[in-house]
Amino acid sequence: MITYNSKTQTFRLDTANSTYCITIAQKGYLAHSYYGAKIGQDDVSYLTRQMEYPFADSSVFREKLSILDFLHQEYPTDGVGDFRKSALAITNNTGNNAVELKYKDFKITDGYPTLAGLPCVFDKSNKAQTLIITTCDDVLGIEVELYYIIFDDTNAIVRSAKIISHAQEPVFIKKAMSLAFDMDNDDYDAITLNGSWARERHIDRHPIHMGVQEACSVRGETSHQEHPFIAILEKTASWNSGNVYGVNFIYSGNFSALVQRNQFDSLRVMIGINPENFCWKLEPGATFETPQAVVTFSGEGLNGMSHAFHDLYRNHLIRSPYKNQMRPILINNWEATYFNFDTQKLIDIAREASKDGIEMLVMDDGWFGHRSFDDSSLGDWYVNEEKLKGGLKPLVDEVNKLGMKFGIWFEPEMVSPDSDLFRAHPDWAIQIKGREPGMARAQYVLDITRKEVRDHIMNQVEGILRSANIEYVKWDMNRQICDVGSLDLPADQTGEFFHRYVLALYSMQEQLIRDFPKLLLENCSGGGARFDPGMFYYSPQIWCSDDTDAIERLSIQEGTALVYPLSTMGAHVSVCPNHACGRVTPFKTRGYVALSGTFGYELDITKLPPEERAMIPGQIALYKKFSPLVREGDYYRIASACENHEYDCWMSMSRDKKQALVTFVQLYNHPNYKTRMIKLTGLDADKIYKITWPDEDKEKFPPIQLAGATIMNAGIPVRRDWGDYQAQLIFIEALP
Ligand code: DGJ
Repeated sequence: MITYNSKTQTFRLDTANSTYCITIAQKGYLAHSYYGAKIGQDDVSYLTRQMEYPFADSSVFREKLSILDFLHQEYPTDGVGDFRKSALAITNNTGNNAVELKYKDFKITDGYPTLAGLPCVFDKSNKAQTLIITTCDDVLGIEVELYYIIFDDTNAIVRSAKIISHAQEPVFIKKAMSLAFDMDNDDYDAITLNGSWARERHIDRHPIHMGVQEACSVRGETSHQEHPFIAILEKTASWNSGNVYGVNFIYSGNFSALVQRNQFDSLRVMIGINPENFCWKLEPGATFETPQAVVTFSGEGLNGMSHAFHDLYRNHLIRSPYKNQMRPILINNWEATYFNFDTQKLIDIAREASKDGIEMLVMDDGWFGHRSFDDSSLGDWYVNEEKLKGGLKPLVDEVNKLGMKFGIWFEPEMVSPDSDLFRAHPDWAIQIKGREPGMARAQYVLDITRKEVRDHIMNQVEGILRSANIEYVKWDMNRQICDVGSLDLPADQTGEFFHRYVLALYSMQEQLIRDFPKLLLENCSGGGARFDPGMFYYSPQIWCSDDTDAIERLSIQEGTALVYPLSTMGAHVSVCPNHACGRVTPFKTRGYVALSGTFGYELDITKLPPEERAMIPGQIALYKKFSPLVREGDYYRIASACENHEYDCWMSMSRDKKQALVTFVQLYNHPNYKTRMIKLTGLDADKIYKITWPDEDKEKFPPIQLAGATIMNAGIPVRRDWGDYQAQLIFIEALP
């Protein structure tokens, strides 16, 4: 529900659990007056005047500088007296850097806006509402529209900004964040998601110190290292209690997410395109739209925040028809064979896999050009007939005959120096004239901002997809972008390159899903460097990490699930010692951890030890039984091994609180310990639940019955298993 109170000049956005207020302050500056748990219908404009007694005469205007530098702002601008980080910086042909936005107008509408060429939220139930506040700077001749979208079924607010030029000459946007707001600090902590290749999105919680704390990427993609997410939370906030604010960015390129703590102990929170290496030339009459960003407030700790993000992405961002469907259980040959495979090997894997109930074979890197290692052929998207004798179709037909689907790997944005494509078009690689372009994994990045490059690649990719019955594509991206130059961009537009690159990527994936509407697309970037909500718009699942070790996956999947639904997390069972870290874990534990994502296998099933192989049908049965719960239920983190160094525990619970699947993973066994009691959360206190161990001998572990209140307050017993890295699944079902 969005309202405007003309007396108090305050806009108010109410979601189910939060209130967000914007007040038109003195001289038309837009103040952020409140965000948090629901409040009464009071005049909150006093909250914008904290430097004097707030209820004193508010009509007295003090000079601009003493207002702007402490006012809680809604979209702070550069160069006019707010000396904190700005959300908007523009220069014009005078070379001056100053933007001063004043309120002009507003509109409250049913429905939601769409963004040209960018992923954006939608609403099928027609219950979304949008607030558009128009502000302007008459000296520059620009208008800025601030968009706020709310939904009836999630506690998230989606924001973006549109900059419209009425100037006579081009202006240059040097920074345009998607979301900003200021708030009082209350001894808050911040959480960011950090990592590296094979160690993505580990939760990092730290006190907010004075100055700026920023998570960012300048790598041309979201990155393994830092993530477009930041949470601000009370020091005492836990998984289930306390106030938590979370921001996230629906984008797949360079970003900046920051919190700045200032002299008055207030916080500025911002997220948007990274201003570093960004400058957008805006011609007279043209507009620039920022990507959308999301902010949530939870009064129920981190789990409440996760629910808001998960609901928003599942209900209002992921478009794929697979969204609410059981995903085919796949077997991918990457860790099984790397580049060393041929038709026979793939058919052998598929044949054995089909016997155990696996439903799709995915042929990974190495099937094209003359690729037999990572140093050639990217860009030559035609079949390597030395490996795949007779081509692709006979292989796919054979796999189909086994009753399995077929999927294929591409890395469409790349070119190897050793490729026909590069020999024909060396200028298609991103490069700065006169400078040796930087190489990584023996490859260059294609300048997909150029239409002829995109068209060439998409023609090849689509040609392959039409040549056989291919039902799944893994779209990979294995290096980051530097030495940026484009033959298509004049000098005063080179600052547009990174954003244009992301728009080009989106247009390629849009074309792919438009031309192949039934295709299951999985994004990937050297593991999880492009695990971001921008990609959800095109693919319902993303490969989470190249680390398939069940124990490393605990922290990766915990950090990922903090923001993103389990239904989006690509997770596979692989062999031990694990290829990324050498750890040996039980096959059972590997299965249980992968069950909390889009389940599959990434191993040579023809060489699997018989006792492990024998467990596959049982794991598949578990996936089939519990996948709807995992995909559509509410996720609750119960305990984190990152915090307690002993065990991990999480749960997926149905919306009606009648069923829940709990996964418990013990790190190390210790002798002579008591049985541990796990206290679950979110259950119906009054219901009686039957508790079973669905993958265990019922004689040894008979079902028990307990009330929801007992399970939540006294806990249920979990075994201490013999050996390290053991795991158990617990199923909880309400009695009728
Ligand atoms: C990185 C991906 O994350 C892997 O799964 C695999 O597809 C390789 N690239 C192939 O080069």
